[in-house]
Amino acid sequence: MTNDRPVTALAPMAGVTDFAFREVCAQLADIATTTEMVSAKGLCYGDRKSNKLMRIAEAERHASVQLFGSEPETLAKAAEMAARIPGVTAVDLNMGCPVPKIVSAGDGCALMRDIPKAAALTRAVADAVSIPVTVKFRKGWDKGSVNCVEFAKAMEQSGAAGLCVHGRTRTQLYGGVCDFDAIAAVKRAVAIPVTASGDIDSPEAALRCRNYTGADCFMVGRAAFGNPWLVAGVDAALRGLPPPPVPNLAGRLDAAKRQILRAAKDKGERVACLEARRHLSWYLRGVTRAALFRAWVMKIENIKDAERVIHDILEYVSG
Ligand SMILES: Cc1cc2nc3c(=O)[nH]c(=O)nc-3n(C[C@H](O)[C@H](O)[C@H](O)COP(=O)(O)O)c2cc1C
Repeated sequence: MTNDRPVTALAPMAGVTDFAFREVCAQLADIATTTEMVSAKGLCYGDRKSNKLMRIAEAERHASVQLFGSEPETLAKAAEMAARIPGVTAVDLNMGCPVPKIVSAGDGCALMRDIPKAAALTRAVADAVSIPVTVKFRKGWDKGSVNCVEFAKAMEQSGAAGLCVHGRTRTQLYGGVCDFDAIAAVKRAVAIPVTASGDIDSPEAALRCRNYTGADCFMVGRAAFGNPWLVAGVDAALRGLPPPPVPNLAGRLDAAKRQILRAAKDKGERVACLEARRHLSWYLRGVTRAALFRAWVMKIENIKDAERVIHDILEYVSG
């Protein structure tokens, strides 16, 4: 355990980085974690599902709750609620989500098109809580309106304690190549810590991004699906340590099983097991006969099924 600021972060990814997966990752390395995005309105209306998303695992030592919304009072009130949750060390504001339902409500990346409004939201939240407030945003709305540097400066002036920039525009969604130049420009423009997001899919990519951008922290996104060991590997490389061991298939599936059991405890067996189909498929990436195993995984309905499928895969592989 260290008190240093983490150099590696697990990206917030709605529908993926739930309590159980974040716990598995945080047990492997001293990383920053962020909840899936939580609706500020939902929290203020007492929505139980929104509230549950804010739970933090004991292993998470640098844990942000990520909020989305575009009303200062609602966001400030939601941030106060988040700051009271045990284990929460920062509040992150989502100003990068590209999903039509979110941006059409003026939330997420839509805020990049209205910097004064985004600045007022950040100010309202920073004034409402005593823990650090960070902002996650993109390179810009589209290639004709790249404004991440101006946006970053405005957020810093409005009380943000840190920034995370994803080097793609809203129009790009998750396609194309992440623009490390945009991240480097943001880093040069502000004095607060900057986290780089986009295409950090290997220890080498993280080191390349650090050399290129000078950012302070590196966020692993889609490459972490079913691969918590990658997050630990990236973290070791950034700290100049040897790569940590990656377990064999039995060890990896054991971690997946623990994740599924934890998720079942957190969100109920049915939901956790339906989601386990996706998670297990990711854990099986690169395994010989993965297509066959995925067909078994897709039939999982409950914990018993999940345990049997994992057992059968290991039998098949060893036999
Ligand atoms: C399925 C999925 C869900 C995501 N959900 C969120 C979210 O809730 N909040 C957020 O700030 N970013 C979200 N993101 C964006 C990621 O945090 C990250 O910035 C992006 O995936 C770029 O990193 P990558 O190229 O390494 O995947 C999501 C991305 C994916 C693929």
